Amino acid sequence: MTVQLAEQKPASKADLYVQLAEQLRSLLAGERDLVANAANVAALLYCSLPDLNWAGFYFYRDDELVLGPFQGKPACVRIAVGKGVCGTAAERRATVLVDNVHEFPGHIACDSGSNSEIVVPAIKGDRLIGVLDLDSPSFGRFDEEDARGLDELVRVFVKSTECGFAA
Ligand code: SME
Repeated sequence: MTVQLAEQKPASKADLYVQLAEQLRSLLAGERDLVANAANVAALLYCSLPDLNWAGFYFYRDDELVLGPFQGKPACVRIAVGKGVCGTAAERRATVLVDNVHEFPGHIACDSGSNSEIVVPAIKGDRLIGVLDLDSPSFGRFDEEDARGLDELVRVFVKSTECGFAA
């Protein structure tokens, strides 16, 4: 199997996410394992999106978030629902976009190099599977276009994956 990451340079951020969604569909095709697919999502995003210092998953298990596959520095393992940016996204079941993590009440600092963050919930049917978390060393790195693009990528991931053991 050849995994091809570099394609034509996208003209815009929206194009980049369209390209990433196509790459992700072919990367996950024929594989339904949760850990394997989450690991490939994290690797694809970390290699393809500029200006990140962390990309990965927390899975929802026994009413808390537990660290899943990721790229970046080692991170805190368990996060209570409602705590930090990840726990807030899990509780609200909605994307949380933070321009300056130092101003977010209860932000959990895993990597002191992180200055902005976006967390997108992964939901299958009505079940919370976990969250996708991206961190950046730049302030205001993520915007609504990232939120839309990442939401689509998470949908591709959830659709392609057997999420049985996460919840
Ligand atoms: N900053 C997150 C914790 C996870 S790390 O960024 C990898 C939060 O506040 O939930």
